[in-house]
Amino acid sequence: MNMNKIAYSVFIAFVASLFTLVSVKALSSNERDAANDEGLDPITLDELDEHASADSCWKAIHGRVYDITDYVPNHPTDSAVILEWCGKEATEGWDNKRPGVPHSPRAEEMLEAYLIGRLVDEAGEPVGPQAAAESAGDADTAEARLSPAEDQRLHRALLGLPQDGHYRGVFIDRGIIQVNITFDLEEGRFTGLAYRHLAYRDDDYLAMEEGDALYPVMRQHRQILERLEGEPVTAIFALYEPERLADDIDGYSGATLRGAKIISAIRDGLNRGVYSWP
Ligand code: HEM
Repeated sequence: MNMNKIAYSVFIAFVASLFTLVSVKALSSNERDAANDEGLDPITLDELDEHASADSCWKAIHGRVYDITDYVPNHPTDSAVILEWCGKEATEGWDNKRPGVPHSPRAEEMLEAYLIGRLVDEAGEPVGPQAAAESAGDADTAEARLSPAEDQRLHRALLGLPQDGHYRGVFIDRGIIQVNITFDLEEGRFTGLAYRHLAYRDDDYLAMEEGDALYPVMRQHRQILERLEGEPVTAIFALYEPERLADDIDGYSGATLRGAKIISAIRDGLNRGVYSWP
């Protein structure tokens, strides 16, 4: 056998072994799902439902149950995004981190570290996402059947009023975000107003500390949100005269961040529509 033939055979053997390795891995991970799940602790939808908060957050994804309590603070979004699925069949959220976009293979690997069991019905039979959604959906169906006299969402829609829910909005100038705000509406009133970003030129107002020259301006902006809390959405228009909602803390009312920008960020949020439902 000359050197070329030897090199060729070694190459073919190498490719073949790679192929075997890849197919064994694919097979074993599929079989692992079916075989290993039998050995996992059975967990019912009712048990799952008892872990529906940041203190204890369990989720069912593709028939398996995960205790992701420790992971919640590390999730790369606002924690509300991930918390709303605690205690639930969360396959839909997992497969659609954005509509139609599932989590990455890396995220899938991370998830496995939190595996604690498999989802079963009262008879101990495995429950897939579909069945779980149907049984958890009983309440939703009841809600969907609300009469036109009772359905608050319908009333708000018919009157052109913003729906209750979680909102996010921004004020952008020359391509740079100055105000990014988040809030909830409950019965048309503000709750949970907070800045996610508040800056002007190179000054990051959220990072200001007492003693910083612009600290009072930041305090005024916080005051504005405190004073809007519990108010109906129409209260934002008072901000065209910001002194109605913020004290002139140090005679520095010519703030670089003005009420109109906050009005604009809130209206942006309302125009975008509900970011997530309560
Ligand atoms: C089921 C509810 C969940 C929802 C609605 C959700 C939603 C999201 C969103 C909106 C993003 C950012 C957007 C993006 O990267 O494109 C994201 C990213 C990410 N999430 Fe989640 N998430 C959920 C659960 C989880 C869980 C349980 C884990 C891990 C244990 C996780 C791990 C990650 C990771 C690692 C990323 C970075 C991007 C990626 O690798 O896909 N998420 N998720």
